[in-house]
Parts: sequence; structure tokens; C-alpha cells
Amino acid sequence: MNDPAAWPPCAGLKPGRRQKRTTAGNKAWLGRRSGVSDAILETEGLTKEFRGFVAVADVALRVRRGSIHGLIGPNGAGKTTCFNLLTKFLPPSRGSIRYDGRDITGMKPAEVARLGLVRSFQISAVFPHISVLENVRIALQRARGGSFDFWRSEAVLREFDARAMALLEDVGLTSYARHNAGELPYGRKRALEIATTLALDPVMLLLDEPTAGMTHDDVDRIIALVRRVAQGRTVLLVEHNLKVVAGLCDTITVLTRGRVLAEGDYAAVSGNPEVQAAYLGTDPGFSGEAAHG
Ligand SMILES: Nc1ncnc2c1ncn2[C@@H]1O[C@H](COP(=O)(O)OP(=O)(O)OP(=O)(O)O)[C@@H](O)[C@H]1O
Ligand SMILES: [Mg+2]
Repeated sequence: MNDPAAWPPCAGLKPGRRQKRTTAGNKAWLGRRSGVSDAILETEGLTKEFRGFVAVADVALRVRRGSIHGLIGPNGAGKTTCFNLLTKFLPPSRGSIRYDGRDITGMKPAEVARLGLVRSFQISAVFPHISVLENVRIALQRARGGSFDFWRSEAVLREFDARAMALLEDVGLTSYARHNAGELPYGRKRALEIATTLALDPVMLLLDEPTAGMTHDDVDRIIALVRRVAQGRTVLLVEHNLKVVAGLCDTITVLTRGRVLAEGDYAAVSGNPEVQAAYLGTDPGFSGEAAHG
């Protein structure tokens, strides 16, 4: 679990970006330190039906500013559908979503992204035939809505290069900057995707199974990376790997068949017999090995 004492708001961020993060970072940090109840994202009665099939049912989610919040549950529980609702890729059948004090239920994906609610892998895509650095540069250009003319300024290009290198350093890819993105090992590619998402300067980051299909070493690297990028931000994380969940999440919401089954810290949800039953026969489950191995 994260120790609030180890959370100075802007540690690890590059000086060039520090100023932008200070307010959000301090707020997140103060929220954690003082235990002030401060939700950045709240849903009420969030429901999604697909032709009569209820994929997400009456979900009340409350994500505390500055926290790493896990959304877990067996296959088909409705986690990705929830993400699609929160990021406006799907309209809800019923219910409301509030983000940072405003009702975003009727907004478009680009609008919520502009407000800093960003889903990894949503706008970012890794282009395999160009370099790792260029991938991040393009993401930065998109984030700024740059036109061709805008690109022609040498000063702007240099500024982007510097920021792109800073982001690559944040995700541990400095030595891969000149490599073609397509040559990256799988785990590093996910790190590049996270870097291109960070180019959008998210306030709240939604990550859907960032460690899916990864080797043991890559999983450890992604845990460290998520912890680092969570500084001064809020993270909502869908994850099947319970070691990742146990290591990262302050609060965990368990979904089954679209409904919230349990919520709490890892110890509370992993000790919940209903949660254990929901996982039986579907996932590795809350065995000690899955959680700590
Ligand atoms: N566009 C759609 N049309 C019809 N049914 C859908 C659609 N999208 C999702 N579903 C159904 O909704 C349920 C929830 O799916 P969802 O992808 O949200 O689950 P999940 O918790 O992300 O699962 P997993 O862990 O396997 O990724 C599933 O039964 C799925 O088949
Ligand atoms: Mg899913």
C-alpha cells in the first residue's frame, strides 16, 4: 500500500512540468495526508444495458482525489464497460457521473479528456514504424492541437523534444528513444503507451489491465511505473493480477455481474467471503500466492 509519508506531491517530476502539477499535486497530497474526504470522481446509479442485458448495474463509485483506486472482478463483471462509461465512449442507460465537481454525464470523450480525465490507450496509439521519441512527440503535438505551420517552428520542435525526453525518462525508456517503437519488447511498449497518455497531462488516469500478458519482470516494472505516474494524480486501475492490486491500490471496488459486491482496502476485500466466492472457478482468486507471489 502507499505510504502517504512517501508522497511528496511532485517528486520525480521534471522541473519544466513541476509548475503545472503543483496545485493538483498538493491537493492530492493534502487529501491523502489529512484524510479529507475529497472525491474527484463519483457516479450515481450508473447503469448500462445492451439490448436488455445489464452489463453495469446501479454502480455508485467514489474515487478519492490522489488515490490509486482498483476496479476488480471476474471476467465479464463490467469493468471495461465502466471505463467506457466514465470516459464517455459509451452513453449510460441511466445514472450520472461527476468529475472534479462537474456533471460530465452528457459530455463527449474529447471534452472529458480536455478536463484531464484520460484513459490510457484511448487517444494514444503506438506507431510501430517511427521512433519511440517521435511517438511521444506526436502525442504532445496532438495534446496541443498543433497544425503543420505550428510544427515548422524550430523552437517548438525543440521544446517538444525536451518534454518528450522527460516523459521517456519518467517511464524508463530513455535508452530506447531512437529505437523504432515496433522493436520494443511488449512490456516496454505498454510503458510507451503510458508515456503517450501522460503527454495529455492527465489529472486522473484510467488504466485498463496495464500488465495483461506481461512477464514477471515487466509486471514489477509497471507497478513501479504506475506508482511513479500516480504522484500528483488520481489513478483508476482495472487489473486481474492481484499482486499488482495489493501492491498499488489504496481502495478497491469489486464488481460482479455489473454490481458492486464489496469495497475497501486489499485486506478487507480479500478477506470477504463473498468476494472469494465470486472469484472461485473464474480467476486465480485471492489465494496468498496470487496476492503476494
Ligand atoms: N457492446 C456490447 N454489446 C453487448 N454486450 C456487451 C458489450 N460490451 C460488453 N458487453 C457485455 O457486458 C459484460 C461486461 O463486459 P466487460 O467487457 O465490461 O467486462 P470486464 O469486467 O471488462 O471483463 P474482462 O475482465 O474479461 O475484461 C459482458 O457480459 C460482455 O459480454
Ligand atoms: Mg475488460
